[in-house]
Amino acid sequence: MASLAGQLLVLASLASAFVSRDGTGRLPAMGWNSWNEYECNISEGVFITVARQLVDLGLKDLGYEYVNIDDCWSDKELRRDATTGELIPDAEKFPRGIVKVAEEVHSLGLKLGIYSDAGTDTCGGYAGSLGYEELDAATFSKWGIDSEGQDLKYDNCNVPPEWADEYEYIPEEPANNAPPGYDWGTSNTAKRYRVMHDALQRQNRTIQYSLCAWGHAHVERWGNTTGHSWRMWGDIFPAWKGKEKWSWGLMPIVNQASLLWNYTDFGSHNDWDMLEVGNGDLTIEENRSHFALWCALKSALIVGTPLDTLALRKPILDILSNKELIDFNQDPVYGASAMPYKWGNDRPANTSDRDHPAAFWVGTSVKGIHVFLLNTHDTAVNMRAVFAEIPPLKSGGKGYLIHDMWTGEDLGIFRKYFEVEVKAHDTAALTITKADGKHPNPQWSPK
Ligand code: GAL
Repeated sequence: MASLAGQLLVLASLASAFVSRDGTGRLPAMGWNSWNEYECNISEGVFITVARQLVDLGLKDLGYEYVNIDDCWSDKELRRDATTGELIPDAEKFPRGIVKVAEEVHSLGLKLGIYSDAGTDTCGGYAGSLGYEELDAATFSKWGIDSEGQDLKYDNCNVPPEWADEYEYIPEEPANNAPPGYDWGTSNTAKRYRVMHDALQRQNRTIQYSLCAWGHAHVERWGNTTGHSWRMWGDIFPAWKGKEKWSWGLMPIVNQASLLWNYTDFGSHNDWDMLEVGNGDLTIEENRSHFALWCALKSALIVGTPLDTLALRKPILDILSNKELIDFNQDPVYGASAMPYKWGNDRPANTSDRDHPAAFWVGTSVKGIHVFLLNTHDTAVNMRAVFAEIPPLKSGGKGYLIHDMWTGEDLGIFRKYFEVEVKAHDTAALTITKADGKHPNPQWSPK
């Protein structure tokens, strides 16, 4: 049950964040998006199939509710209606318009998401919304048809020179020329995102507003007054580590999260990008780590793998369906992300390493204290959760009950530490309670 302290924590964090009246955006968004696997090869059929599969595979029942259309949905040539100025959907990809997709998605009890850009053009070169915010917010709202709610992912490409920031901050290249104490909430990037925020607020429906600002202009410092979530880094791609063009593997992203996890709380979520679970050549262990960490970080859980073959890919479906991890991500009482409690790999805390980010993480939920042990190495490693090192457990105890969030099994009562062999690139996910199953420290929060 929610403790009084926990409830007060919730109220305190609600005060500063952008939670819509109906609760939209309070918890990390869950759903599906076309970009990671389909890029521009989208059509009405992709989204209608996904919506059906979300229901048939049981994913809707687990909370996956958004069906999100990414870039390349509008008509690249015609762009806008000559009379109304409204964006024109691509007639080949969406012969019945976006309205019909919305209807089908809504008829299954799901929500539709759309994509635009705070520049003249999207990243794919389709019409952007800069200067058209009011009209586009109204159009998206109109296409929603009923009152099911929507999602807008708002990208950051093709910003014209008059909107360039006075100072530049790009997280992958941390040096910047801003004077000390500069308020990034006054940057042009913040202003461009705020214009759309204001336009969305004027619609008579709720739109989950996801800022795809890639961590630029220190979006984490002003995002919580502007949107429900904000991208923190360049694009993800399905690799364990490294970089290809502007896309990054999992470890560099987790490295940044090790340093900036604390900007997340109810209604205000760092977005570590959409899931690549099931894509590329990620091993099962890498897929497990990806999902466990995105749940632990309270990042949005937006699946990016085709769903029509997922029934045949049972190990992947099982990962995406892990209810205990989802419950941590969606906890109703504790809004903070898990935090690193020890860096591991013989490294001091708060240091950056894009191949070996922090390995020992702790978070809390209504069920207990959770520990996530990430093996960044290419071979199996024995990892030890030493209770005296874990802040909420430091007071000691008469032994703790250790529960495996992957198998759903209790592993026994341990007095000083729990040691487990973690396979290469895998993550152990544990729930720790007192021996009698009670929460060891309901007052504790990582923040
Ligand atoms: C990127 C964005 C991706 C995807 C792509 C579409 O800027 O980070 O997630 O939306 O644009 O062109």
